[in-house]
Amino acid sequence: MKLISASQLAISLAWISCASSLVIPDYNDLIISAESTKSSLSSSLLLLNQRQQSLSYYEILSNYLPSFLFQSKDEGDEEISFQGILNNIGGISSTLSETEVSKGAVIASPSKSKPDYFYQWTRDAALTIKSLIHYLDDEQFNSNDESTYSIKSIIESYIENNYYIQRLDNLSGKFNDDSKSGLGEPKFYPNNKPFERNWGRPQRDGPGLRAITIMSYISALNKYSQPFSNQFLNNQTFVYEEIIKPDLIYIIKNWYKEGFDLWEEINSHHFYTSITQLSALKSAINFIELNNYPESSEFLNQLNETYRNLKQFILFDSGYKSNTLPYIVETPSLLKSGKRCGLDAGTLLGVLHAHNLEFGDYDDIPFDIDSSYLINTLSAMIADMKYRYPINHSKIGFDKAIGVALGRYPEDIYDGYDTSEGNPWFISTASGSEIIYKFIHKLISNKQDIIINQQNREFFRQFIDFDKVPAQDLVTFIKEDSNTNTDVIIRFGSPTYKTLSYNLSSFSDSFLEIVKDHVDNNGSMSEQFNKYHGFMQGARDLTWSYSAVWNAFRWREKTLQLLDSTF
Ligand code: NOJ
Ligand code: NOJ
Repeated sequence: MKLISASQLAISLAWISCASSLVIPDYNDLIISAESTKSSLSSSLLLLNQRQQSLSYYEILSNYLPSFLFQSKDEGDEEISFQGILNNIGGISSTLSETEVSKGAVIASPSKSKPDYFYQWTRDAALTIKSLIHYLDDEQFNSNDESTYSIKSIIESYIENNYYIQRLDNLSGKFNDDSKSGLGEPKFYPNNKPFERNWGRPQRDGPGLRAITIMSYISALNKYSQPFSNQFLNNQTFVYEEIIKPDLIYIIKNWYKEGFDLWEEINSHHFYTSITQLSALKSAINFIELNNYPESSEFLNQLNETYRNLKQFILFDSGYKSNTLPYIVETPSLLKSGKRCGLDAGTLLGVLHAHNLEFGDYDDIPFDIDSSYLINTLSAMIADMKYRYPINHSKIGFDKAIGVALGRYPEDIYDGYDTSEGNPWFISTASGSEIIYKFIHKLISNKQDIIINQQNREFFRQFIDFDKVPAQDLVTFIKEDSNTNTDVIIRFGSPTYKTLSYNLSSFSDSFLEIVKDHVDNNGSMSEQFNKYHGFMQGARDLTWSYSAVWNAFRWREKTLQLLDSTF
């Protein structure tokens, strides 16, 4: 019988606890109850091994992936995604009327019923506008280009629009009370009216995400010495004082309170909310310093103190990092109550949204893209969802890593219209790809050797055979003398390093290939795709789907260019 290591076991055990509430069609023989013993786990793994075919990863990939994915550029998908974003923003969209959707308001989807997503969510809007900022940065604000000009003006309309929205009284509270409670309101009508019906409120991630987006924009303007074009916004001090700073005050006053998660369902503490809030605080501290804002030392102290407290909370007090699990726990209270296993795409998205590589990234935000906790979260999500979603069953038995369609979290029952069974989502699947591309990018741009140790061994094992690495590709170290648990260190730039990087990028592409398989003939993307038959469902033309897929393609492009110029 195959021996399994402790970390592999931990991941598999996590799968068991997630699996306790599900029925896996066609794979009933793999269902393991929460009470399962270690021995039934081992026999299930054995069963799995027997199912494995002996095809190599390359053989599978070359049969499986169309050749375009190995070419350097795939503009088609990027462009469709980008247009999908613009279609959903007031003032630039040719299909939305300005009486219904104010200039600069970003609707989540044009769907007005079943489901009704015809609102501006603070979160979706901030994330989407950030993609547009990256586009301008990539294009270097080439002002002769008409589309660049209109994108600049749309970003600025979004900022102006948010000035109005921030000040609306709503069911989360007010703008002007001591804790700025109204800023926790998750969504508004796109004509800038408050939404006054029951909802999962407050959601405390919105202000931080908006602040990050607007600070990124100002940093990008400064990088290319560009002024605002929008008259209302006037100057950077106005935008800082009136729009960014209230959001920062919201975090300072509210970070320790419970609130609803990014999926709008659970009132508690959430990794996604905390890590993005922390990122907003750190961005602000750097931003004020870099731009020499005459900020009071009292406010700077508050920012620094909150940053330290929240970081302490994230790393030690919250339960996001458990002592027994190898992955990040998104909502620790649900793990504690036995309702969920803690795996959640909110973790993957949180890391992606909290680390802003472009405009001053910093190591002081924990759980970066190369953290073994993050990589193990992704691996455990894959391990779970490979079985959970029948459309992934064709991937069972591959002996090397391959992406699968990912959903929000194992226990999800939201089907895009109502509650029944959860499905894979485009944003989750695309984040698998973006994480791996950013991971490769970080390793290579820092010229980092790849350190393989107990925490990440199972992940890397899928890409190279440790026993076959030629001695000259390894950095030698003396195991007995070292305090680390290092197995091997792959030398930066060596042939093994190159193979590993390309294998990782094929892995990353395999998520994008799934995305491509499930879009419709025009490249349109809804929120989800059905776990049995793969057709799209839930809100049509979801802005966030387009933005997430565009981001993944953008990182693909950047990373492949870096790979080409390095090797
Ligand atoms: C709508 C929310 O936006 C979604 O995230 C949630 O899962 C469903 N309502 C069910 O509560
Ligand atoms: C439901 C999702 O759960 C939530 O995260 C999102 O903000 C809204 N839909 C709008 O897209």
